[in-house]
Amino acid sequence: MTLDTPVADDIRNQLAQMRRSYGDEGLTEASLPTSPLDLFTSWLQDATANPYIVEPNAMVLSTSDITSRSVLLKDLNNSRFSFFTNYNSRKSKAIAKDPQACLLFPWYAMERQVIVIGQALKVSEEISDQYFASRPYGSQIGAWASAQSERINNREELELNFKKFSDQYPEGSKVPRPSYWGGFEVKAESIEFWQGRYSRLHDRIRYVRDLASGQESDQWSWMRLNP
Ligand SMILES: Cc1cc2nc3c(=O)[nH]c(=O)nc-3n(C[C@H](O)[C@H](O)[C@H](O)COP(=O)(O)O)c2cc1C
Repeated sequence: MTLDTPVADDIRNQLAQMRRSYGDEGLTEASLPTSPLDLFTSWLQDATANPYIVEPNAMVLSTSDITSRSVLLKDLNNSRFSFFTNYNSRKSKAIAKDPQACLLFPWYAMERQVIVIGQALKVSEEISDQYFASRPYGSQIGAWASAQSERINNREELELNFKKFSDQYPEGSKVPRPSYWGGFEVKAESIEFWQGRYSRLHDRIRYVRDLASGQESDQWSWMRLNP
């Protein structure tokens, strides 16, 4: 029988004691806009201006197969949050089975978190083409070279693949978009804003799309949740 590797006691004690007090800047009912997208874009601007947040547009995407990973928000069109990836990857297979998805923006340096829930749909071929064409050459070849989420024997194999595709599509020539690479957009059904406050009395406001007036409705209602 093999036992799990024990973790040093001092690390375990440190974990139990790690805590921060949060500030006093809160979310007041009077300050809430009618649309959560207005609040989201204002928080995204704050995150972008904050020097302690290295990738303000990074979000943790969770899928129905109970896995999560970071992806980059590349567009926000009305309430549709877009990211780009490999359509054969683990996340894409999960989305094909069940499109329900969750996006979490972990803006810890601002004591803020936003959670978006909705269905992920592929964007049009034109949008994927357009975005692919705007990527740096190395990223374009990288998309060809990587069978994302598949097992690979060693790093050398990956580098050889990169070399193979950079020979096929030399720098300066137009690199076509691989058919298995493109975007998804998550159409928000709910957006929850979390702002850290003193004594763990955090502010949580969840906006929910009002489905009574149809799937395409842009009417939202909000509620305050216990922290
Ligand atoms: C900050 C950050 C941003 C990332 N952005 C993307 C992205 O936009 N698209 C993507 O496919 N993978 C991105 N990745 C890699 C993914 O987290 C993940 O490793 C990869 O997509 C494979 O996930 P899967 O096997 O669950 O499909 C990013 C990773 C980090 C740490």
